[in-house]
Amino acid sequence: MANMVILGAQWGDEGKGKVIDIFTRKVDFVVRYQGGNNAGHTVVIDDAEFILHLIPSGILHERKICVIGNGVVVDPKALLEEIKMLRSRNIGVDGRLMISENAHVIFPYHRKLDELKEQKLKKIGTTKKGIGPCYADKVARSGIRMADLLDDAVLKEKLLANLDEKNAILGKIYGAPGFSFDELYDEYKGYAREIKKYICDTAVLLNDAIKKNKRILFEGAQGTLLDVDHGTYPFVTSSNSTAGGASTGTGVGPTKIGKVVGVVKAYTTRVGEGPFPTEFGKDLMQKIRQKGKEFGATTGRPRRCGWFDSVIVKHSIMVNGIDEIVVTKLDVLDDLDSIKICTAYRFEGKVYNDFPTNGRVLAGCEPVYEELPGWKEDTTKVTSYLKLPRNAKNYLKRMQALLKTKIVLISVGCDRKQTFSKDS
Ligand code: IMP
Repeated sequence: MANMVILGAQWGDEGKGKVIDIFTRKVDFVVRYQGGNNAGHTVVIDDAEFILHLIPSGILHERKICVIGNGVVVDPKALLEEIKMLRSRNIGVDGRLMISENAHVIFPYHRKLDELKEQKLKKIGTTKKGIGPCYADKVARSGIRMADLLDDAVLKEKLLANLDEKNAILGKIYGAPGFSFDELYDEYKGYAREIKKYICDTAVLLNDAIKKNKRILFEGAQGTLLDVDHGTYPFVTSSNSTAGGASTGTGVGPTKIGKVVGVVKAYTTRVGEGPFPTEFGKDLMQKIRQKGKEFGATTGRPRRCGWFDSVIVKHSIMVNGIDEIVVTKLDVLDDLDSIKICTAYRFEGKVYNDFPTNGRVLAGCEPVYEELPGWKEDTTKVTSYLKLPRNAKNYLKRMQALLKTKIVLISVGCDRKQTFSKDS
C-alpha cells in the first residue's frame, strides 16, 4: 500500500478521526503535518471515546509510531495533558511518539494575542489556542522551535526578544498586562525536561522508514476550505491543511506520497465565521445539529450546518489531487423527506460551476440546488452498500457523478463497525 494522506475535503470535522483509525491498521507510521491543538479528532473504540487534539490518533494502536511533524505548532502544556490522559487510560506513548525538532512552540502570549485579536479586531471565530500568532512568528522568523527549548542559552535569548515585542503589543495596542520572562522561562524549561525524549529529526526518521518500505499515513487536520492558501481566506486557519502540507510539514517529498483520500461529510458543516453558501435555516439547522452531534470537539461550539456542496468538494479534489473519497455521517440524513445538493452558485446573474476565490462572490452567491427524495429509513445498522435504501444509493451515486471521483467507503455511525466499502 502506498503512503497516503487522509484529509478533510470541507471545512473540517468531516469525521477524519474514525477514517484515519480504520486506515491505521495498514500502516506503520501516523504523522500530523500541520495545525496544532485546534484540531479535535474523535475516535470510538468498543464504546470508549477518545478525543485527540495533537497526538496522531494512531497512538491508540499498539506498535504504531506517531510523529508530530515540523509543520505542526505544539503547545507543550496541551501535549503533556494529552500524554497524561492517554497514560491514565493505559496507553503509553514513550518510544512511539516523536516530535520534530523544527516544530514551533506555542507560548501563552500566542494564546493571549489570539484571544485579544478576536475580541478587538476582525473576528474569525478561532479556537483561541494561539495557532495563528504562533504561525505568524514562524513566518516572521522570530518563532521558538522545539530544538530551542532544549538549549538554555538559545531559549533565553529568543524568549527575551519575543517578550520585548509581545509585551509592547499587549500593552500599547490592547492595554493588557505582559508576561514575565522568569516565569515563562522556568515553565518552558520544565516542559523541555519532560518532552526532550520525544524530540528528534523526524524528516530523517520518516525518510529512513520509507527506505525500509515502512508505510506512512499523513493525517490532515482541519479541512481544505480552512487552508490558508486554498480556503475561504481570511476565514481560515493559519496552515496548509491541503495535501501539499504533508510534504512541507514533514520533509517527505511529494514523490514519496502515493495517494490522497478525501473525507467528505454527507452534508456540510463549519465552525467559526465566514461564508457558507448552503447553510440551513433555523429549523433544519437545529435538527441536523442535534442528530449529527455537531458541536466542536475542541471548543464545544455549535457547528453551522448546511446541504452538501459539490462546488467546494470539487475544489478540494482539485487542489489536493484527491484519488478516493470516504463519505461519513450518511445516517444523519435518514429522517429527511428530501435532500438538496448544491451543484453551482449564482452571483449577479452569472453561474459559477467552479469555486469562486473572490470572497465577495462567495459571500453573496446563491446556491443552485438539485433535490433528491430522502430514504426515511434507519441506515445505522446497514453493513453493506447493497443493503442501503435505494434513495440513499441514488444520493451517493449523484454525489460521485458530480465529483467525478470514486467513493470507496461509507460511514453510518461513530463505531468502527458502522463502515462499509462501496463495493460491498
Ligand atoms: P484557528 O485554527 O484556531 O486559528 O481558527 C481558525 C478557523 O479555523 C476558525 O473558523 C476555527 O473554527 C477553524 N478551525 C480550526 N480548527 C478546526 C478544526 O479542527 N475543525 C473545524 N474548524 C476548525
